[in-house]
Amino acid sequence: MEETLNDKNSDKDSRPLRIGIAGLGTVGSALVGMLEENATQIERRHGRKIQVVAVCARSRSRDRGIDISSFQWYDDPVALAGNGDVDLFVELMGGEDGPALAAVKAALAAGRPVVSANKALLASHGVELAQLAEDCGAQIGFEAAVAGGIPVIKTLREGLGAASVTRVYGILNGTCNYILTRMGQEDISFADCLKDAQELGYAEADPTFDIEGFDTAHKLAILTSLCFQCQIAADEVFVEGITAISQEDIKVAAELGYVIKLLGISQRSEQGIEQRVHPTLVRANSAIARVDNVLNAIILETDHVSELMLSGPGAGGSATAASVLADILDIARGQSIPPLGMPTGELADYRRAPMRAHKGGYYIRLDVIDVPGALAAITSRLGENGISLESVIQRPDLNHDVHSQDSDSGNGENSRTLVLITQDIIEASLRKALDQVADDGHTRGAPQVIRIESF
Ligand SMILES: NC(=O)c1ccc[n+]([C@@H]2O[C@H](COP(=O)([O-])OP(=O)(O)OC[C@H]3O[C@@H](n4cnc5c(N)ncnc54)[C@H](OP(=O)(O)O)[C@@H]3O)[C@@H](O)[C@H]2O)c1
Repeated sequence: MEETLNDKNSDKDSRPLRIGIAGLGTVGSALVGMLEENATQIERRHGRKIQVVAVCARSRSRDRGIDISSFQWYDDPVALAGNGDVDLFVELMGGEDGPALAAVKAALAAGRPVVSANKALLASHGVELAQLAEDCGAQIGFEAAVAGGIPVIKTLREGLGAASVTRVYGILNGTCNYILTRMGQEDISFADCLKDAQELGYAEADPTFDIEGFDTAHKLAILTSLCFQCQIAADEVFVEGITAISQEDIKVAAELGYVIKLLGISQRSEQGIEQRVHPTLVRANSAIARVDNVLNAIILETDHVSELMLSGPGAGGSATAASVLADILDIARGQSIPPLGMPTGELADYRRAPMRAHKGGYYIRLDVIDVPGALAAITSRLGENGISLESVIQRPDLNHDVHSQDSDSGNGENSRTLVLITQDIIEASLRKALDQVADDGHTRGAPQVIRIESF
């Protein structure tokens, strides 16, 4: 007799998938709530119950707004990962090494699939963990580790088929995007925006990781590996954060038709792969410029489907838990795809393209001592280094709200702000020219240099 699709489906494993969750904070608690609220729908749509059997956190007594009384309690995540009653281990504790790494390794070594939202862990140990998963016949899902609720990992691993990515870029940190959006809409300083972000729960008490660009770098390194089939190389990302961006930069950029965003960009060049995270001037009418507040967005440029943009919530309990759940459901269905899109043994070595070889446009803001001939001397230094300018703006009256001094240097010398927009040039030439300008003594303080992208 002919076998029907229904017959085939009925052969599938219909036992509940028993999961153990280590970490019951923002994401873990949201996941427990989501599994409970959607239990009927999950079983109807996916043909299998997802059942939480064990949990782990640091404090057993903390009120988390969820009922954990029916779950086995563990103080030790590694012991939970080794529990034979658990079919799948979910790591939602965070941390690059320590208990998260030990527990994930223990689960995989036991052939137990793992789902994690931990970008720091994946950025540092992703290849090693993917290799362990392959060796032990297990799966590791990490959709939530990059851009929270946006299914970019699935898109890269499964959606693009044979298409080849030529460049990936995006807004990967909601905290920075919130701060830069507010600074662009209101006349407030970086420090005040950061304070508001902390009060609203968009920024951590210690925001360093976000505002210095490291969080974006971790996510970018994971994306780079999936896009370019290479090793994850988080230590090789060029990183500049947003702490030096002033109202002055935001205003001048707006006058010139740009907005400033913190972008993670990865692209191939002749020298290798350029992975960089830095504030970037983008055209105000570009799609990425309109991704505001805490939203994230990723743009994949490929040979076959040209440009693909994914945008949405990059963080938050329920958005992130939804991505964790998507991974759990894929594993429950028996889906088996190499974690990094291809066997780890096939991943190419990462070859870093040096930033000094980067070619692009630049915004340069200089604090110029107001003496006759200073502007001519500066522009001729740039010219000597092959730097052509697109625009020059001189201002005696811009407010210096960050890292700058009054317009009087204290030596009786007045200064004025000079903003230069270059054509596409090589970064090494610009650095050389700016060193010479500084040596010439016509400027005060360090120049503000922001890269421009013409997306
Ligand atoms: N929050 C987001 O929007 C978001 C978005 C994308 C990805 N992620 C990632 O998701 C993961 C979890 O983030 P989260 O915001 O939910 O963190 P969180 O609110 O700080 O929660 C962390 C949880 O892990 C538990 N924990 C920490 N160390 C532990 C240890 N040694 N042993 C046992 N339990 C331990 C904590 O226990 P106690 O509760 O008892 O302290 C807490 O329940 C992180 O990797 C994060 O990068 C988060």
